[in-house]
Amino acid sequence: MLTSAWRRLQVPSEVPDFPEWTQATPERRAHVERVAALANSWADAMNTPAQERERWLRAVYLHDSLRDAPLELLTSLTDDRWHWPSLLHGPAAAEYAARHGERDRGVLDAVRYHSVGYAGWDVVGRMLYLADYLEPGREFRDEERRDMAARVPREPRVVLKEVAAERLHWLVTSGWPFIAETVEFWNALARGS
Ligand SMILES: [Fe+2]
Ligand SMILES: [Fe+2]
Repeated sequence: MLTSAWRRLQVPSEVPDFPEWTQATPERRAHVERVAALANSWADAMNTPAQERERWLRAVYLHDSLRDAPLELLTSLTDDRWHWPSLLHGPAAAEYAARHGERDRGVLDAVRYHSVGYAGWDVVGRMLYLADYLEPGREFRDEERRDMAARVPREPRVVLKEVAAERLHWLVTSGWPFIAETVEFWNALARGS
């Protein structure tokens, strides 16, 4: 009979999945699965090492894990500079993930700032920001977004700037304030840094 230790040795790294504390509707989970599939396809196209791919997918499965959690829980995990209820789930999920043992700074920053952008992101944050917007289940401008998604492996920085411009335009027209990190994110993209 196989021991559990033997079984563990057969799996080189854990396959990311929703954390057990996820509070998300079935529709939300389906969105996250599409984000994961898109990020995974980019990892294939970019010959991304297994360990790095695993980081991308960990961030994907964490990013909306508290999207449908009660407001009281979200506010208890965040400070008041996030302004808007719909922005709380990113920083709340990062805080919750850290309390549950996530130690990767790049993964936590990807999750924390996935709705607003962050100049200090490594590749994980940038890929999550792109996949979250370009996943095929969102029902607007399907064709343009599909073309942008296809270009990501060749020119991720160019597409990132295009996606940021669209997302920030939407934020402005919604009348929402920018947090300081969003301004720094756009300025870094505009400077090409
Ligand atoms: Fe989100
Ligand atoms: Fe999302």
